[in-house]
Amino acid sequence: MKTEIKEQLKTAFESKTEEEIREMIENAHGLMSYYRCAILEIETKFRVLNEQFSISFERNPIESIRTRLKTPHSIQEKLIRRGFPLTLESIEENLYDIAGIRVICTYIDDIYKLADCLINQDDITLVSMKDYIKNPKENGYRSLHLIVEIPIFLVGEKKLVKAEVQLRTVSMESWSNVEHSLCYKKDISPELKAETSKKLLEYADACNKIDLGMQELRERVENR
Ligand code: GTP
Ligand code: MG
Repeated sequence: MKTEIKEQLKTAFESKTEEEIREMIENAHGLMSYYRCAILEIETKFRVLNEQFSISFERNPIESIRTRLKTPHSIQEKLIRRGFPLTLESIEENLYDIAGIRVICTYIDDIYKLADCLINQDDITLVSMKDYIKNPKENGYRSLHLIVEIPIFLVGEKKLVKAEVQLRTVSMESWSNVEHSLCYKKDISPELKAETSKKLLEYADACNKIDLGMQELRERVENR
């Protein structure tokens, strides 16, 4: 983490009284449980879709599902980096990726089918969508990102919770993991950095070519 962000984090906490910090953490416990519930709900929706797909299309579109809850440290860091207030209300209002669900598929077309099925469910509201498959990032990153809102039914309470869903293929997942781990490597020369980025972009395109090729193969076999 950058030193200046670390400093800001320290200051933000020093300006709160002990009681305020304790209260915030205690309340955050409840807040985080909403996000855990959202993850459970959305993961179940995808598992149900996977089951249904296997009947309609004779294949399981989902290779695996990974979920994660943003850590308190990472929440604070993002609030500060984006200049949002350090309060629980601000977390709910401004951060949409505390609950994260990643769906890894074999084929690109299944990504869109699954996304459509999720969005069309009547308890789901699509807040925003970023299609980095049709419009890859400059570094070659590809994935379909959705921010959705889902109701969580608790004892005597209904709560609308936002979550981030990322859908990508197995090869996009493996590329992203490599890219993510390499971009955090420090102490590398500008030349090596530039060469790494160039190679990563090349490999991202190669992964995409394979994904499209495999999909075409599947279509040819299915329509034999
Ligand atoms: P964040 O502040 O990181 O949440 O970005 P954002 O709010 O602009 O959202 P965006 O949809 O662009 O990215 C959200 C998430 O997608 C990130 O937290 C990563 O998990 C993933 N992601 C986006 N871009 C990249 C990338 O270039 N490389 C890798 N490895 N992952 C990425
Ligand atoms: Mg994020």
